Amino acid sequence: MLYKNFVRPVLFLKDPEKTHEQTVALLSSLSFLEGALERLFVVRDRRLQVSIGPLNFSNPVGLAAGFDKNGTAIKIWPGFGFGFVEIGAITAQPQPGNPQPRLFRLPKDQALINRLGFNNEGADAIATKLEGLQKNGGAPRISLGVNIGRSKVVENKDAAADYLFTFERLYPYGDYFTLNVSSPNTPYLRELQEKNQLVDLLDIIQARNREMARQLKINEKPVLVKIAPDMEFSQVDEIIEVLQSRKVTGIVATNATAFLRENLVTRTNEPGGLSGKPLKARSTSFIRHIYAVTQGQLPIIGSGGIFTAEDAYEKIKAGATAVQIYTGFVYEGPTAVKRINCGLLGLMEKEGFKSLAEVVGSEAGCKTSC
Ligand SMILES: Cc1cc2nc3c(=O)[nH]c(=O)nc-3n(C[C@H](O)[C@H](O)[C@H](O)COP(=O)(O)O)c2cc1C
Repeated sequence: MLYKNFVRPVLFLKDPEKTHEQTVALLSSLSFLEGALERLFVVRDRRLQVSIGPLNFSNPVGLAAGFDKNGTAIKIWPGFGFGFVEIGAITAQPQPGNPQPRLFRLPKDQALINRLGFNNEGADAIATKLEGLQKNGGAPRISLGVNIGRSKVVENKDAAADYLFTFERLYPYGDYFTLNVSSPNTPYLRELQEKNQLVDLLDIIQARNREMARQLKINEKPVLVKIAPDMEFSQVDEIIEVLQSRKVTGIVATNATAFLRENLVTRTNEPGGLSGKPLKARSTSFIRHIYAVTQGQLPIIGSGGIFTAEDAYEKIKAGATAVQIYTGFVYEGPTAVKRINCGLLGLMEKEGFKSLAEVVGSEAGCKTSC
């Protein structure tokens, strides 16, 4: 209430991107408050624990990629109650992104449109930052995902080497890596979702994953792939086949949509990725499809239009093991994660589920009986 009635109206008076940058910078300077925030916002309950491959999250709600692109405020995120956080997208080369303005609020639709274009400090700078954090004992106590994108100046034919550079540079610091082949704001990036290109990319990344794990005497790091919501299910099926054959740990479904403008209340022609409420049903339909096709064998992180516990529950019932929020965090504010987690417990109790793992895919109707 406090956020929605008093803080958000003031924040929303200012330029969206400036407000975002200032908020992340402020949060980074307030990282000493993490413990106090934790007491306010963290929901501890074993029923909320979920696992994706070797990753264990204390609750299923993660911060989606793009919010903390440079890993600036890593220390504070656990304080808001997140079960995991994904930084990035990080590209091999530092880059400024697209010309401004490039981030737009659509309050009447509870949505955002962005065409930032992977503005980030680049793999070297961010790896150095994370190394420093690790040395000073400041690495986050929740799983850290690293979202990797392609540098704008690199052509798709050289994309694998570009992703590989960032993967290697960040390898010691990420608990998992998401290959982002689905941003609508880097020209031709989404073509990397096509079968042959995806095979090439994954073969190179997974081979290096095995090598580095052997050198460092650790287990291979989980690799996930994030897909767009703008394709036919037949293409999703091809992607699933590639991911399963390349031993990918999971799939993030979905990124923002380049389309779906027809039902917006706000009149806008701004190109870019639309996120928030208007994306919710589409992304859930992708989750439902992936869960059905894989019979639950490919873990799904659901992303798209999650604002409330009901939204998260719907995605988990459709087949997501965990979820991520971006636009919902902007609109709902600092209590969002706590409200989602408390609400999930309430919904589980109402329906007689003893753990969230039982809820995953339960909408399909065979979770408990087959
Ligand atoms: C401003 C903005 C920047 C984003 N940047 C990235 C990014 O760098 N990498 C990525 O994989 N997704 C990015 N996303 C997509 C989000 O991670 C998320 O998948 C999408 O917005 C749908 O979730 P939401 O409806 O909760 O926002 C971005 C989204 C927004 C709004």
